Amino acid sequence: MMVYGLRSYLSSTVGKKFVMGVTGLIWAGFVFLHMLGNLLIFAGPEVYNSYAHQLTSSGLIYVAEFILLGALLTHVILAIQLTLSNRAARGSQPYACTARGSKSVLLSSRTMMFHGSMLLVFLITHLMGFKFGNYYETTVNGVVMRDLHRLVVEVFSQPLAVLWYLVALVLLGVHLSHGVGSIFQSLGLKTLSNEALIKSLSWTYAIVVTLGFLSQPIYVFLMMR
Ligand code: HEM
Repeated sequence: MMVYGLRSYLSSTVGKKFVMGVTGLIWAGFVFLHMLGNLLIFAGPEVYNSYAHQLTSSGLIYVAEFILLGALLTHVILAIQLTLSNRAARGSQPYACTARGSKSVLLSSRTMMFHGSMLLVFLITHLMGFKFGNYYETTVNGVVMRDLHRLVVEVFSQPLAVLWYLVALVLLGVHLSHGVGSIFQSLGLKTLSNEALIKSLSWTYAIVVTLGFLSQPIYVFLMMR
């Protein structure tokens, strides 16, 4: 009985939005930690490479990758389902109901689909360039490890790569600023009294993440190549 109730909740619009919120939160957390880790580039190649080596040599990385992949696939599939059902509902609504409110919801879901799709393309190119990109080796304190620092400098020495990252990271910021606000709503935590606070929190989070990520390609391109 309970399983049936849970299943019908998860297949309802409210349930799907809730799961989108949770999966979005998982990625928002990862993105923040990834941005913080990336800042270690300013501490030099040895610190940067040792940090990446420690992360990737623990078995926990496989658990993290499994959770991230599952969350991403769920997030994308639900986004497509919700957009399609939104569109179908709009098609069956009489003219008088498509006033400003429903139009703006539709507009934001359309723009979310746009930058969301761009971010998916970004993620694929990003993983191909870094995770599965050129493999260099270095030795730090006697330990042989991947020289990711060299790869980062190599990638961000190319103007087109830097430009692509600038565009993608600004889109990431826009997606996060809207997405993080929606997470609170989807989890039922948004009220009239905390609406303004949530808005400024999500903007602050998005700006910090975007500027943190942007610092790396800009710094490498201007100072290290
Ligand atoms: C300037 C921006 C960024 C830089 C320099 C950067 C750098 C890197 C590097 C060097 C790796 C390889 C780590 C390894 O294999 O040990 C990596 C992996 C990864 N990055 Fe980024 N990243 C950036 C932005 C992003 C963004 C915005 C996202 C997500 C939206 C992202 C998602 C990932 C994911 C999912 C992995 C694979 C993690 C794993 O499975 O080990 N990155 N990144």
